[in-house]
Amino acid sequence: MNTSIQHARSILDAVLEHRRMSIAILTSGGDSSGMNPAIKCFIERCLQQGETPYLVYDGLEGLIDGSIRKATWDDAAGIISRGGTIIRSSRSTRFYEPSQRQKASAELKKRGIDKLVMLGGDGSYSAMAQFQDETELAVACLPATIDNDVPGSDYSIGVDTALNVIRKAIDDIRDTASSFSRAFIIETMGRSCGYLAMVSALVSGAEICLIPEVSHNFKSIKERIARSIHHGRRYAIAVVSEGVEQGAKRLSHWFEEELHMSSRVTVLGHVQRGGSPSVYDRRIAFEFTTLAVDELLKGNRCFAVCSESGQLKIRALSSLPTEIELDPELIKLVTRLCQ
Ligand code: F6P
Repeated sequence: MNTSIQHARSILDAVLEHRRMSIAILTSGGDSSGMNPAIKCFIERCLQQGETPYLVYDGLEGLIDGSIRKATWDDAAGIISRGGTIIRSSRSTRFYEPSQRQKASAELKKRGIDKLVMLGGDGSYSAMAQFQDETELAVACLPATIDNDVPGSDYSIGVDTALNVIRKAIDDIRDTASSFSRAFIIETMGRSCGYLAMVSALVSGAEICLIPEVSHNFKSIKERIARSIHHGRRYAIAVVSEGVEQGAKRLSHWFEEELHMSSRVTVLGHVQRGGSPSVYDRRIAFEFTTLAVDELLKGNRCFAVCSESGQLKIRALSSLPTEIELDPELIKLVTRLCQ
């Protein structure tokens, strides 16, 4: 090939490279275990498809500030077993301001990014829906929060790992509870959603569960616990969702006053967000992310990946329900612990 043709070709390649649009990923809101496997899958899937993957650091804050860089194969190495998110996260109030969203949009345009994968909870979904409305950006939202409260999806990345952390904590507390005649009250996270408390109460054999979704009857709880004490029970375990206001504290006083049982409260707190992602969270993170990247590359522009009874579905962001509903079968099972 003569040199002038070579030169022309290299100019053409440079122009094509510049015009080729790219794809980015960000994690937003409370981190959840499984975000790193999703990031790994994102990088590898994009590179396999010949796309240039970008990482947005510090969630929506980093999007505004342009904390964005190209990912390489190396970024995907050694992260699959790590909790949290290597690209970090934030809860951004600045993103509510139109001028800050314009800034974020300009940062993406500057780098030729026209597709974005966002992992987060329902607040981040709303932010993305608005951002997508105002820009040319194609957006894929993946549910990732320990709260399991993202409308449209019955599972969010990180829930299984969080449940295992809670289950282990309650098993450990049971060891000490069974050595004393005491009531132990464990408060779980979940914001206003009782999913974590409900499932962990069931799988830990708790005697009482308080969640915002089911009404409580302390009269019948008292009769039930008093009966079991009469038949030899020496301790009790209760799981209370943080969504029940002052629930753990009030239940602790109740035990002391009504049943004359000494009681202790354990607030599990942020330990529930940590830990190496479980097998299920790694698998679901891979499935969600692969589908999101493939749909974006096919030209789908504004959607959420949802799990519906174990099936993955794509739904337009605008078509997602506004409310979540806990599985009625689980509600039926847990109701006996609320009364
Ligand atoms: O949304 C996840 C979550 O862990 C909730 O369960 C909890 O209420 C909240 O985040 C705590 O938020 P922060 O980490 O900002 O204190």
